[in-house]
Amino acid sequence: MKVKYVAEPFRIKMVEPIKMLTREEREARIAEAKYNPFNLRAEDVYIDLLTDSGTNAMSEDQWAGVIKGDEAYAGGKSYYKLLDAVKDIFGYKYAQPVHQGRAAEKVLFQLLLGEGKYSISNMHFDTTRAHVELSGARAIDCVVPEAADPSLRVPFKGNMDTERLQKLIEKYGADKIGVVVMTITNNSAGGQPVSIANMKETSEICKKHNIKLCIDAARFAENAYFIKRREPGYENKSVKEIIKEIFSYADMFTMSAKKDAIVNMGGLIGIKEDENLFSLCKGRTISFEGFITYGGLSGRDLESLAIGLYEGIDEDYLKYRAGQMEYLAARLDEAGVAYQAPVGGHGVFVDAKSMLPHIPYYEFPGHALAIELYKEAGIRTCDIGSFMLGNDPDTGKQLEANFEFTRLAIARRVYTQAHIDIMADALISIKEKADTVKGYKITWEPPILRHFQASLEPIK
Ligand code: F0G
Repeated sequence: MKVKYVAEPFRIKMVEPIKMLTREEREARIAEAKYNPFNLRAEDVYIDLLTDSGTNAMSEDQWAGVIKGDEAYAGGKSYYKLLDAVKDIFGYKYAQPVHQGRAAEKVLFQLLLGEGKYSISNMHFDTTRAHVELSGARAIDCVVPEAADPSLRVPFKGNMDTERLQKLIEKYGADKIGVVVMTITNNSAGGQPVSIANMKETSEICKKHNIKLCIDAARFAENAYFIKRREPGYENKSVKEIIKEIFSYADMFTMSAKKDAIVNMGGLIGIKEDENLFSLCKGRTISFEGFITYGGLSGRDLESLAIGLYEGIDEDYLKYRAGQMEYLAARLDEAGVAYQAPVGGHGVFVDAKSMLPHIPYYEFPGHALAIELYKEAGIRTCDIGSFMLGNDPDTGKQLEANFEFTRLAIARRVYTQAHIDIMADALISIKEKADTVKGYKITWEPPILRHFQASLEPIK
């Protein structure tokens, strides 16, 4: 099937030069970086797909907002503008800005969790899991089994396995489940969406057992757009209406605004109506982040975030955004490169297990493909697999992830069709010599979130 590239609903007013090193230079740089792409200097990267987080291009309105940002310590105009946007879009009574998503997790999760408790999620993102574990609790992923088969094309592979959720609640006892977290889109499963039906069913289960439901809302707009495109009955609803409905089923949200709110820094906590919980959050924000009305951000960040929340839900923009992923995915389909299909909202998650079947999970196929992409075309990506998952916190043993993905996360409004073609060409060229690619071993690792810092070397 020929997929036409959806042309950009914007034009370019400012450019950022990038340079391409030679293959020899790239091989030297990645060795110096101890074979960890997080250790590379960004200027040595040609196309940076490490993350779609905070790497987005702001609009002229957002940059104008930077100038208008109110830098008052307390009660600034930009803070109130942000509160109005949050109320308008999500319909929640209370909002607290923080400096990014993990700060929201740090402020909120210790209030819900602790020793002996559990957090159950369709899938915890790595920092979310870390904050659950830092509170002394344990994180359980409960995604639908369809997510584990990258070749299976079903519309809502990010969903919660609600049958298993019920069973887990019965097994551990509702009083031990501090929170249920619905991550939209489900990043770790490949940016896969969650349906409204699943959101509603999960909400009903939580209500029945008196368990709080929290949305991890990093990619809420992309999720809503998938619902509009795929869920019967929603095709004529606006993305904004769909967002209201999604959030009506939860009690609170944490949000990394560095994704769908199209800013370089920012985060939010939203609380539907629990005034007491909000008050506790405010207290913790003051000690960890800064005063309530700036939450670790500058006034200019609050201002551009308030504007970005609306730009991120614009349907012409979302059509272009989804179109970029679909274009790349179609090129990979043509060449037989497997990925988590159908393609997700913020990137292509290449199935490294399928491309590199000779590399076992403990030699990190997703990571091996990431290193190859850098050597091949100066493309920086990362592993979303066993290397990222790390060791069992109780036994210290390497865990085996459900997937071994190499994630090509695409920043918003940054790369062009020609860049996307380079991504596809590089993957196709690596596929042709896949049997020569080697696995990796870790030579040093820190105890938590190791993939950001670990040193590795190729296995001879
Ligand atoms: N939740 C999800 C679903 C995320 O994807 C992220 C970040 C966070 C929470 C934490 O937010 O970075 O603002 O502190 N994801 C980035 C990524 C880092 O590359 O996927 P943060």
